[in-house]
Amino acid sequence: MSQIHAVITGVGGYVPEYVLDNHELSTMMDTSDEWITTRVGIKERRILKEPGVGTSYMAAKAAEDLFAKTGTKPEEIDLIIVGTTTPDYVFPSCASMIAERLGIKNALAFDLQAACSGFIVSLTNAASFIETGRFKKALVFGAEKMSSITNYTDRTTAPLFGDGAGVVLVEPGSSEFGVMDSILRTDGIGGTHLMLKAGGSAKPASHDSVDNHEHTVYQEGQFVFKHAVTNMAGVSAELMEKNNLTGEDISWLIPHQANLRIIDATVQRTGVDNSKVMINIDRFGNTSAASIPLCMWESQKKFKKGDNIILTAFGAGFTWGAVWLKWAY
Ligand code: UT7
Repeated sequence: MSQIHAVITGVGGYVPEYVLDNHELSTMMDTSDEWITTRVGIKERRILKEPGVGTSYMAAKAAEDLFAKTGTKPEEIDLIIVGTTTPDYVFPSCASMIAERLGIKNALAFDLQAACSGFIVSLTNAASFIETGRFKKALVFGAEKMSSITNYTDRTTAPLFGDGAGVVLVEPGSSEFGVMDSILRTDGIGGTHLMLKAGGSAKPASHDSVDNHEHTVYQEGQFVFKHAVTNMAGVSAELMEKNNLTGEDISWLIPHQANLRIIDATVQRTGVDNSKVMINIDRFGNTSAASIPLCMWESQKKFKKGDNIILTAFGAGFTWGAVWLKWAY
């Protein structure tokens, strides 16, 4: 096993100012605050309203927050991985756009598509790069402008999503801290149940695809829900058992924020106390790959050196997994 561990040394975040609450949504479609709150756990979400900008705009702001907190300079960054489903363009990568916005010229930079699991998969990848000894300072993003792929005439998906960006700085550190272990999985059975139907190479954009709302999220909610509950809870418990960790050993559980009921199932299965579970779905909705780093951004002051932290996510693909961190500062 590698002697170099990948350690998180800083967290940054950004959410847009505009708040779209359940009451405003109820004026746009046949829904209610009561339904959204009890079935999903969302009260409001942030929406990026600035014209002509995409995910890289929010991600760069998150990185500027991280740079200010850690004293890091753009020229020190040698790796950028961006977990996102909503890059500014199909190409070039969102990572390239972020590098340009931040003035980063010395980094390997690429996007990673694992839907809502994008941050944990990106973090695990970055850890492998750092463990080789060849990379010294990595920015790992979970960043999404979900409003750009949301159909605001569809009550079954529109209330769910929000925009935002989170980022962590990952550096080489001692083997006592950092990314200790992870389990990541994929099952293509999910493919057609949660997807963007058009705009890719299989079905390029056409007048019909626009008229049929095929450039916005299609989701069979109950099918996805069933798999999310089983897999997110299951993989978290599996990772803990593998490393002889019980609920009492866990300082913080940071689950992907798709539905409070899915989170509750993971809490029950892992035996982690409710007071140790990080939640932002009520204020930010489902921000896909950004949900976990945004939780870390809001709560980092609570973390103490040596804390055991479990990150866990489930998303389109299906993709899912869990990461065990030991907090380093
Ligand atoms: O991010 C990673 C992947 N995604 C997930 O993990 C999401 C997984 N799925 C879910 O969280 C839930 O399935 C949803 C939140 C998407 C939906 O909740 P649900 O409890 O599964 O509702 P449902 O789809 O079974 O719909 C129940 C009823 C239906 O009415 P009928 O047929 O029983 O009369 C829907 O038409 O609720 C109705 N409904 C709504 N009513 C008011 C659906 N959306 C709404 C709405 N407001 N916004």
